Amino acid sequence: MKKKTSPETATAQLTVNGKTVTFPVRVGSENEVAIDISRLRKETGAITLDYGYLNTGSCESAITYLDGEEGVLRYRGYPVEELAAKSRFVEVAYLLINGRMPDAQERQQWSSLLNQHSMIHEDMRRVFYQYPEYAHPMAVLSAMVVSLSTFYPELSQHRPDEPEEAITIAATRLMSKLRTIAAFSYKKSIGEPFVYPRSDLKYCANFLNMMFSSPVCPYEIRPEVVKALNVLLILHADHEQNCSTSAVRLVGSARVNLYASVSAGICALWGPLHGGANQMVVEMLEDIIRRGGSVKSYVEGVKTSKGKELLYGFGHRVYKTYDPRAKIIKQSCHSVLKALKVNDSMLDLALELEDIALHDDYFLARNLYPNVDFYSGLIYRAIGIPREMFTVMFALGRLPGWIAQWKEAREDARFKLQRPRQIYVGPPRRNLAPEHVSSEVDEAPRRKHTAHAKRKA
Ligand code: ACO
Repeated sequence: MKKKTSPETATAQLTVNGKTVTFPVRVGSENEVAIDISRLRKETGAITLDYGYLNTGSCESAITYLDGEEGVLRYRGYPVEELAAKSRFVEVAYLLINGRMPDAQERQQWSSLLNQHSMIHEDMRRVFYQYPEYAHPMAVLSAMVVSLSTFYPELSQHRPDEPEEAITIAATRLMSKLRTIAAFSYKKSIGEPFVYPRSDLKYCANFLNMMFSSPVCPYEIRPEVVKALNVLLILHADHEQNCSTSAVRLVGSARVNLYASVSAGICALWGPLHGGANQMVVEMLEDIIRRGGSVKSYVEGVKTSKGKELLYGFGHRVYKTYDPRAKIIKQSCHSVLKALKVNDSMLDLALELEDIALHDDYFLARNLYPNVDFYSGLIYRAIGIPREMFTVMFALGRLPGWIAQWKEAREDARFKLQRPRQIYVGPPRRNLAPEHVSSEVDEAPRRKHTAHAKRKA
């Protein structure tokens, strides 16, 4: 057991230009230690420089705990393994947003609120038709989410004294409508009519029905598929401070409304180094098949590319061991494929790739293990979700986390505009050479002067 650091006695000292300053130390509930350098610039004139924020905490948070060395992930104290086995996604969303599991009555109320807000404005529905058919659904998702602030403008000027109820309604709307927007963007991309949400169906079943049923062919909702989707969404629901969540917090710190802040998070998530990696994994596996199916030579190519080529779905900034989410997703992948009697040769390829990487010194030395994105795409494929939609599925899952983080930041008394500093390394002060002075700028005052003189005359 790690020795507990005492915030009363632990301090940190830093000497800058001969001046030594003592800084307080903050200790988290799991003994994580941070040096509070809030006074650094005032006391020493210096700032910190930390590319990629490898050592920088941007907030204190009571939402998610993760230990990258031990492979631990907990939401509000509950291990994700337990939540994935025993809860539904909407309950976990409630937990993240409200800080506790709902009781029976709250669960009922939450479900009916989600039903109540599941439709989108008919004018908004028409906006979908304006996108080209090749539009990536993540672009559509982000644009439609920010558009919610035009259709539901109550929150568009975020004020610090915003009534709690308005925030709750916006959060509920977003939770429910994102699912409808996601399904509509898929239907639009395949040219099929939209399927409206149904109040008799639960969250995941409702989503699957909107995605896959059509006027000519009703969709059979299979409990194994609903269960797998619940597990996937739960495992994506929050992951403390990461690229998209920090984008939500950063944009929100300018007092931007929830819809616009979440839209920024969706854009950040789209990147192939972040949530977009789930699409990249399947494209990588397809690429291996196209090149003749040799996993070994693909892995060798990655190793010799000097960081230009990556094994997508491998590696993580924080996990230096097997991502606990990937463990559960791998298991779930086997069960879903078995239940649906799907024989996907891509799963065999993924297993071979994992096995080779986990026995290769290059990957071992760099602590590169499968992450949440490695196996998730294979489950999506098995249940019929096309690869362009994989990151949309990630966004659906991550939404409660973004909402919880946005709310927590707003409720924090230290809520401040996030504005990093920089070290300027450009040229020192200089003046324009005569040949660089624009003649148009030179003429403008003359023209103005002439017009003025004419008027006077
Ligand atoms: N394949 C091959 N080499 C890798 C990989 C990978 N997937 N990831 C890292 N490396 C190598 C780097 O080239 C670097 O090698 P070097 O020391 O010889 O220069 C070393 O491992 C350290 O990598 P960094 O890029 O410094 O690690 P960082 O913490 O910045 O990156 C990241 C984390 C971005 C996730 C990285 O592992 C990666 O690009 N993975 C592939 C994309 C991916 O799966 N992203 C999803 C992450 S989970 C999520 O965001 C939801």
